[in-house]
Amino acid sequence: MNHQDVAEIAETANEPLLLQQARALLSGERDRIANAANLAALIFTSVDDINWAGFYFSQGQQLVLGPFQGQPACVRIDWGAGVCGTAAKQGCTQRVDDVHEFDGHIACDAASRSEMVVPLMIEGQVIGVLDIDSPRPARFDEQDQTLIEALARVYIQSIDG
Ligand code: SME
Repeated sequence: MNHQDVAEIAETANEPLLLQQARALLSGERDRIANAANLAALIFTSVDDINWAGFYFSQGQQLVLGPFQGQPACVRIDWGAGVCGTAAKQGCTQRVDDVHEFDGHIACDAASRSEMVVPLMIEGQVIGVLDIDSPRPARFDEQDQTLIEALARVYIQSIDG
């Protein structure tokens, strides 16, 4: 057993179940749409109190809707607009306790009250975002953010770019 094997086993042993499930689900496939679709479905069916989970991918100066679970959503979001466009432009996670207080929030499902958007980075470039909405205000805490950011990394590592 080499160093890397030991490190991988230790990492797996301490990981939340959802992260382990995501690694297993995405392993063996490199297609970014297929893996986004499966990860959106895994998140949507595993995380309590959410009403939307999915992806937007960068295309020029916009984000374009990718695979998701939940109500139909707006297709194109300008770079810098809404919670998603802000996460993409700033290259950092947006955790919003009350979407009504977020200037420029784009309401796709009127039931959404809180939201977390994690940028997907490859070699410093934002290739898209992972977006999760909840009907409960302040649904997401720091621990949730750590978990969703880890899921975003699992996704990035699973695809060819
Ligand atoms: N609320 C997002 C738009 C996407 S939907 O939530 C699915 C935003 O403000 O960017």
